Amino acid sequence: MLDKYNRKITYLRISVTDRCNFRCTYCMPAEGVKLMKHDDILSFDEIVDIAEQAVSMGVRKIRITGGEPLVRRGIIYLIEKIAKIKGLEDFGLTTNGVLLSGYAEKLAKAGLHRVNISLDTLNPEKFRKLTRVGKLEDVLKGIEAAKKAKLFPIKINCVIKENQNEADAVEVAKFCKKNSLKIRYIREMDLEKGTFWRVKGGDGGECSICNRLRLTSNGKIRPCLFSELEYDVRKLGVKKALMFAVGNKPKAGTVNKLLNFNDIGG
Ligand code: 5AD
Ligand code: SF4
Repeated sequence: MLDKYNRKITYLRISVTDRCNFRCTYCMPAEGVKLMKHDDILSFDEIVDIAEQAVSMGVRKIRITGGEPLVRRGIIYLIEKIAKIKGLEDFGLTTNGVLLSGYAEKLAKAGLHRVNISLDTLNPEKFRKLTRVGKLEDVLKGIEAAKKAKLFPIKINCVIKENQNEADAVEVAKFCKKNSLKIRYIREMDLEKGTFWRVKGGDGGECSICNRLRLTSNGKIRPCLFSELEYDVRKLGVKKALMFAVGNKPKAGTVNKLLNFNDIGG
């Protein structure tokens, strides 16, 4: 699929839930967010159908996101189904890591290629403050389990808050080096204000080479994180929603006042 600006669209990020077991300060308010209605959430079979059709139209890379994808019940079933799609070359999942110690082996067996894990600090107290509820130790255990399950390359997403945790980011980088993990620095973004930057160590945030579409857990294909455009797969049908999203993918991101990060998985 080529868009109006000759960008080849080969990457689909699938959010399987808007729910999360963390409350990271840059992602959600403390009291949580208004959650989607259960009936609006796509079933696994609907998601598999969308993934299959997307791959048949040229998608080669799929990433499962949330919210926190590992809190969705039965997630291993979905991973197994998507892993079997012929033509899919790269299949990853982004997680906060807190449940990963119990899931890494199962994910690898189900056919997942690799994981990205969020880790902004190695200080347990700061970690608790930032995530409001998270235990650093659980995430470190999750990272170990991912290594053991060989979900390589394991990437660490480290969000940098303006002037706030530079020192933490340096510690995280050292930890990554020691543990053969790849680090990606993500500067804190603001959907409402439309502030975003290129991801250091990744290819996100660079509009001119953007190859992605996103699927929200309630079935909307979104051509751009920083745009309010969305195409409903249940209303339009999968092919049309995908085609409209590609055809209308903006040249560059602007603002998105409709969604929170937990709706769209970064
Ligand atoms: N700015 C940048 N990254 C964010 N994430 C969540 N909210 C923001 C934000 N405001 C990232 C997390 C995680 C991924 C799922 O989304 O770091 O790695
Ligand atoms: Fe959950 Fe990720 Fe948002 Fe943190 S950034 S609250 S782990 S969805």
